[in-house]
Parts: sequence; structure tokens; C-alpha cells
Amino acid sequence: MDRRPIGVMDSGLGGLSVMRVLRDELPAESLTFVGDQGHFPYGTKSQAEIRRLSLAIGHFLVQQDAKMMVIACNTATGAALSTLQKELPIPVIGVIRPGAAAALSTGAHRVGVIGTDSTIKNGAYEATLHDLQPDVEVVSQPAQPLVSIVEHGQTGTAQAQLAVDKSLQVFDHQTVETLILGCTHFPFLRKEIQQKMGSNVRLVDPAFETVQQVKRSLAEQSLLAPEGNPFRRVNLYSTGRKEDLQRGANQWLGGRYNLCNHLDLEEE
Ligand code: DGL
Repeated sequence: MDRRPIGVMDSGLGGLSVMRVLRDELPAESLTFVGDQGHFPYGTKSQAEIRRLSLAIGHFLVQQDAKMMVIACNTATGAALSTLQKELPIPVIGVIRPGAAAALSTGAHRVGVIGTDSTIKNGAYEATLHDLQPDVEVVSQPAQPLVSIVEHGQTGTAQAQLAVDKSLQVFDHQTVETLILGCTHFPFLRKEIQQKMGSNVRLVDPAFETVQQVKRSLAEQSLLAPEGNPFRRVNLYSTGRKEDLQRGANQWLGGRYNLCNHLDLEEE
């Protein structure tokens, strides 16, 4: 049994779409979340820069006594997963492999992936999907403008639907059976994306399979917190304005957290 927190990171509010599943599926676990809003967005940065920022957050989470790190960001997973696994003394889990596995478990042969510019350019989803199922056909589409729609609290607006319709136009001609929401901001646009894709296309949020992997990994290493853990805490940190993270947490975590603070990270 291990009461230490699970550390979670994203470039911004998107990581809350993974936090809400972690909280529901692992209710005894303490969670420490860092939203790197001071450096948002990651999707337009170089791989080296994303690695440097992710590593600084990883070191902070280790200082906070995290027992495991979850990279709740596809962009950072693509750029930095193997570096963080090498450099940090704790297990590190990303969202891309679980997302790819979840998509293939639907039995689809034509899979779409939407993500940030970086995630799509990096090709990690395509490579992982082919690794798991060599004959799968993949249609990848960057949808970077949708990240800001979520970060700036514009989900559920006509403008959000317009941006989704424009960003996903490629799927009018290249049909897919399953679409991976390959950016943790996108599950908050699920309604708009489903509206554009039509009800026949299955949307996959990698958070669910990722959290199953977290659960298995904690259990295998005897790192699970005791059931009903009375010391459980959900602590949130933003490297930007804490009010922005608070707004997102009030909307998407139902305001259920213990602390929300600003964090100054030492640059490496
Ligand atoms: N939420 C992130 C992802 O899953 C990155 C968004 C961004 O900062 O561009 O890729």
C-alpha cells in the first residue's frame, strides 16, 4: 500500500479530461496535477523544447513525492515519454499507446487520428497503430486551433462547432470508422466532434485505457493506495494564471479539489 500521489501533467486544461477519469476510477488515490499554462501551447513547439518542459515538470512531481507520473498530454507523450522513462526514478505512463490499443479494440480497419501539429508531425500514433496492427489504414489530421477553443472556455458555442467543422473537413472525403481524440483537450469538444463526424463514427478518448494501464501498473507494483484513504488529496498547479486552471477545474472536475496554486518551475 502506498499513499503517495500520482503525478499528472499537461500543457493546460486538457489534462483535466484524464484527471476526471483517474479520479472516478481510482477514488483512493491522491493526485498532483501540473498544467503548464505558462508555456501553452505545446503543439507548436519543437520536440526538444517539449522534452525540456516535460522533464522540468517530471522533476517537480518527483520532488512532490509522486509514486508514478502520467503524461496526460499526447504532444508531450510523443516527444518526451522515452526521455522521462529514462530520466525519472518513477514509472511514467503516456496516452498514445493506450489510445491506439483502445481504437483497435473497436475492430476498426480505418482509423482517424486528430491531434496537435506536433503529435501529427511526430507520427507516434501512426507508428504505434501500425505496430499493433500492420494492415490498419490511418488518416491523420492536425487540429491545433481546437486546443485554444477549449483552453479559452469556448466549448459549446457556435464558434466551437465552426472550428471543428473546418478542422475536420478532411473526413468528408476520407471516411473512418473510429476517430482517436489524440489531444487531451478534445474530449471537451466531444459533442461538436460527434456532430461533425456523424453518429456512425466511434470516438475514442485515450484517457480510459490509460487509466486502466495506471491501475494495472500500480497493482503489479503494490503501489495502490489503501481503499477509502482518508488522506487523499487532489492538488492542482498552474505555471500560468491559477484562476484559469480553477475555472477549468470548476467546470470539468465539478470543483472537487483541495488546492489550486500558481507554480514557478525552475527552467533546466
Ligand atoms: N493537450 C495536449 C495534447 O494532448 C497539448 C495541447 C497543446 O498544448 O498544444 O496534445
